Amino acid sequence: MAINAPEGTYDMLSDRKLFWEQFKATARSVFGRYGYVSVETPVIERTELFVRGIGEATDVVSKEMFTAISGANLTKLLAGEKLASKSRLSLRPEGTAGVVRACVQHDLVPQGAPPAKLMYAGQMFRAERPQHGRQREFNQVGIECLGADDPTIDAEGIIMLMRFFAEVGIPRESMTLLVNSMGCEACRPAYREAVLSYMRSHEDALCATCKERMEMNPLRAFDCKNEACARIMEDAPKISDYLCEECAEHYGRVKELLELAGISFVEDSRLVRGLDYYTRTVFEVQVAGSDKAQNAIGGGGRYDKLAEEVGGRPTPGFGFALGFERCANVLEDVGHVFPEARSCQVFVASVADEVRTDAFALTQLLRDAGIQAEEDHQGRSLKSQFKLADKLRAELVVILGPDELREGQVRIRNMHTHEEELIAKDVVAGEIANRL
Ligand code: HAM
Repeated sequence: MAINAPEGTYDMLSDRKLFWEQFKATARSVFGRYGYVSVETPVIERTELFVRGIGEATDVVSKEMFTAISGANLTKLLAGEKLASKSRLSLRPEGTAGVVRACVQHDLVPQGAPPAKLMYAGQMFRAERPQHGRQREFNQVGIECLGADDPTIDAEGIIMLMRFFAEVGIPRESMTLLVNSMGCEACRPAYREAVLSYMRSHEDALCATCKERMEMNPLRAFDCKNEACARIMEDAPKISDYLCEECAEHYGRVKELLELAGISFVEDSRLVRGLDYYTRTVFEVQVAGSDKAQNAIGGGGRYDKLAEEVGGRPTPGFGFALGFERCANVLEDVGHVFPEARSCQVFVASVADEVRTDAFALTQLLRDAGIQAEEDHQGRSLKSQFKLADKLRAELVVILGPDELREGQVRIRNMHTHEEELIAKDVVAGEIANRL
């Protein structure tokens, strides 16, 4: 039986790959205008980084990580040998923890330095139940800004994300920007207590998972997909009533700056996001869809305690990530025209076998002149070479015939107009370059 790609993963074939490259180039161009530069961190990190950074009580860490044991002797392990924690590695479920780890490790934000503005793009892995828009391996583009807690960073980040979505072609009217503030270590504990006591008063009606998580992190219940829990949590205390003065002011300023930039948003006091590192601003961009769980195309927020959590000095941070596949799904729904990968601009056709060596040499010459050129490698008839050129979507075909070659000439056929002309073989590369 043939072996297929694992469930929840997919092969990025040439057209999709081209679109992914263009998508990343657009991100680099838009985010670059705001001072973001690209970095790449490992796809695997120590499991401990995610446990400490993202939070043990999150679904992402408790249920969805692909964890590997590096270099372990399985026989010894099965015999009960203890595993050193540094041998436990996980495929990254998201990019923030790794980027913050890299900032701490390389001291990218020394005291007094301007904020480090970093962007990244690549695969993330979550062992979720695969379905449309939810994969086990997916691609994110993300940014992280470390070293500044000013609300201008949050506001410009959100504006930049909306600019990016516009630039890739996602219609503004199909997106809803949700914003909230999660408070800080000063005001969140009282809010957490209020939610906990509210949940305790409804404990019987909550699902088993919410009951279980209640003591560890009651705010996770806002994310519960269970309908009964969702109904109960609708009337739970609102964070906006608990924000300390500084958090309320910070949040107010973010909203003011968004309004100033003409970015419409909806405040959602139940938006807590699925990762535990957030403080203050959180936001998500959602699109209307049948399944609420998969309708977020991007999201992020502020995480002022994460650097300390992974062993660094206090360094405020802000960032977001967006899902490439979910964006592509939305673009498909709105009839976006995706690029098609092309491998051939000019096809070199041989009229007879005796000119094949000339065809080979001319193809190399065209390639050396920077032209995407191809020839027949399968001994096809002239008719089927034309069919192939058509299939490869070649713009021009250079036809080599023995008689013309003897006169130092070749024929060029324009595949759109079907016009043909004779040109001197010596100048063919320049002539073709002019016609492309
Ligand atoms: P997240 O909300 O978990 O945030 O993921 C960001 C985006 O990745 C989602 O909005 C969604 O578009 C996409 N995504 C997530 N899971 C899947 C999946 N299983 N299949 C397909 N797409 C998916 C983060 O990852 C944070 N690191 C964002 C951040 C950066 N916060 C601060 N800095």
